[in-house]
Amino acid sequence: MADNMNRIAVLTSGGDAPGMNAAIRAVVRASAYYGMECVGVRRGYQGLITGDFRPLNSLDVSAMSSRGGTMLYTARCNEFLTEAGRQRAMDTMKYNGIDGLVAIGGDGTFRGCLELKKLGCKVVGIPATIDNDISYTDYTIGFDTACNVAIECVDKIRDTMQSHERCSVVEVMGRTSGHIALNVGIAAGATAILVPEKEVDFDEIINNIKDGRLHGRTNFNIIVAEGAASSQEVASRIEQETGVEARVTVLGHVQRGGSPLLRDRIIASEMGVRAVKLLHDGVYGHVICFDGREYTDVELDESILQRRFLDEQALAILDVLKPR
Ligand code: F6P
Repeated sequence: MADNMNRIAVLTSGGDAPGMNAAIRAVVRASAYYGMECVGVRRGYQGLITGDFRPLNSLDVSAMSSRGGTMLYTARCNEFLTEAGRQRAMDTMKYNGIDGLVAIGGDGTFRGCLELKKLGCKVVGIPATIDNDISYTDYTIGFDTACNVAIECVDKIRDTMQSHERCSVVEVMGRTSGHIALNVGIAAGATAILVPEKEVDFDEIINNIKDGRLHGRTNFNIIVAEGAASSQEVASRIEQETGVEARVTVLGHVQRGGSPLLRDRIIASEMGVRAVKLLHDGVYGHVICFDGREYTDVELDESILQRRFLDEQALAILDVLKPR
């Protein structure tokens, strides 16, 4: 065991994601396994500054794997963006005898971790965001559940679009990343998928609809990532240029809620255990990664250098899959 790793803290920060509770549970249970105490920090970095701590034992996290949201709450903290705020967080951890920290969240959370690491904090990150946009890992906790919630909604919307021979424009989450849109769009057999990583090609959307009509299609579905375009504008243009009636649905936060599905529970459990093992083994300043087969870890500095790329090639299969 690493020297002086007797008491660790766990927090969740940034947008919540289904599976965060399963990760907290795993961190708490693994701490007990390795003979360490675990403390939950409420409201992310805000709680780290103010000392909003709650000791967590194995029973406190019973049945948490099935619960959506985060039992530790999450927040965005302006004070933590200042040097003074981060120093206060370090002082609070020292005062409370915290030897190590597990931070569960996305890109913003890991930037915070890196700043703490520079101040000497022994921290490990667990990637959890429905956006799945962290580099060096093929998966972030919450993505699968969010996509499945979205797909269920898209299928339902499709039923009514079919009856009315309309075009649905469904906006999914992803202000700066199109992973949800891409996956949901392919799974739903979308007419077009709009992602922030790629310039929107309106001509292509219009042509796809006109082409589809020529081949007997009477309803269409466009999946728009939140940050790619205004879904209202997309719908208006479709109506004007094709004459097909269009309706917009913004899925919003429904995608972040609900009981996590199997994949999120399993990966969250694995990542939680691995994060604690790293601290126990004296490895700090890393983020846990999963490549689809194996769990590894990468330096925080590397992890936040860039966002995970969108497989734009995958968009190309939409063209192959359209009716001819
Ligand atoms: O980071 C996850 C995410 O759900 C993004 O997809 C979305 O753009 C953003 O959070 C929304 O954040 P908020 O809940 O603060 O509006």
